[in-house]
Amino acid sequence: MIERLQLFPLQYKLIIANVVIVIIGAAGGTWLVAKLASGNDGLRLVLLAMGFALVGGWMSTLANIWVVRKTLKPLDDIAATADRVRHGDYTARTGADPFRDPQLEQIVVSFNGALDQVESDRDRIKDLVNRVIAAQEDERKRIARELHDDTSQVLFAQLLRVSAMKNSENEEIRAVAGQLEDMFAESMEAVRRLGHELRPPSLDDLGLREATGALVQRMRDRSGIDITYDASELRERTDEAIELVLYRVAQEALTNMWKHAHATAANVTLALVDDGIELVVEDNGRGFNPHGENRSDGKGLGLGVFGMQERVDLVGGTLEIEGDRNPGTRVRAWIPLTGDSGA
Ligand SMILES: Nc1ncnc2c1ncn2[C@@H]1O[C@H](COP(=O)(O)OP(=O)(O)O)[C@@H](O)[C@H]1O
Ligand SMILES: [Mg+2]
Repeated sequence: MIERLQLFPLQYKLIIANVVIVIIGAAGGTWLVAKLASGNDGLRLVLLAMGFALVGGWMSTLANIWVVRKTLKPLDDIAATADRVRHGDYTARTGADPFRDPQLEQIVVSFNGALDQVESDRDRIKDLVNRVIAAQEDERKRIARELHDDTSQVLFAQLLRVSAMKNSENEEIRAVAGQLEDMFAESMEAVRRLGHELRPPSLDDLGLREATGALVQRMRDRSGIDITYDASELRERTDEAIELVLYRVAQEALTNMWKHAHATAANVTLALVDDGIELVVEDNGRGFNPHGENRSDGKGLGLGVFGMQERVDLVGGTLEIEGDRNPGTRVRAWIPLTGDSGA
């Protein structure tokens, strides 16, 4: 019976509660009046009737408040769930309420269904990003190998031929050959640099410490910025996926520093912290708001910061960017050495 009543919509619950109170009031009142009428006491009768009306009114109000509160409670639950989802708990759902109102119950079911959809879409996006990053790495590796194995070899062969032409009797040919030799040497250097940027061989061969050191050195040469580097704590090699993520974060953070910060000095450190590896890249440049719009197109942060965040997420690490260090920016990535190393 109670179970059946609970299934009634809100307005029927209220009507039933009120009807019950009115019936009790009417029956009780009639009984009282009949009982007191024999006593012939007019004033007492009026006072009693008023008291009765007062009590009835209060009971009715309380009953209404109680029923409405109980019935609308799922709305509070929905708000609380939405809040948890907003703060990143994508598994939060609104539970069933024993005092459920069928219409609200329908809203709860639809709301939970929408959250299921959001969660599965999010998983799919994560999976896609994961695959895009993996495909990008494969492609970079392939192009770097091709540059090294094919393009560089062809350029080298041409360089040898041109060098040979420098022994020509003809002075004009010798002069042209000299110029060509310089051009080929420059091209080979450019191809070599490009290959290193795409996929530094030192990362696979020597590990994170050396590869990041070479990256810092290249950035010093290129930008003229005074960059210190300390990775003395890092003695052993670690998981390839972790090394690659940290290298890519360092690469992006240094490129951003060079492109956007107008810095004159920077520090890069790799250290062992809390059973993980920590990378810090800090500069003394103009800083920025990592949560706001930073680009002229008003689209907020670019792919670089997004990519750093996703890569770090994939190996279970954390990324913090402080852009208001006055002066400068500090990018800190930390990746646990134990546990899920993702890709
Ligand atoms: N070290 C930094 N100093 C100042 N601004 C920065 C720094 N790093 C990033 N930014 C700002 O954040 C924005 C987004 O960076 P990013 O996502 O790498 O995109 P992109 O480098 O392609 O512009 C940059 O356009 C720049 O305004
Ligand atoms: Mg960038």
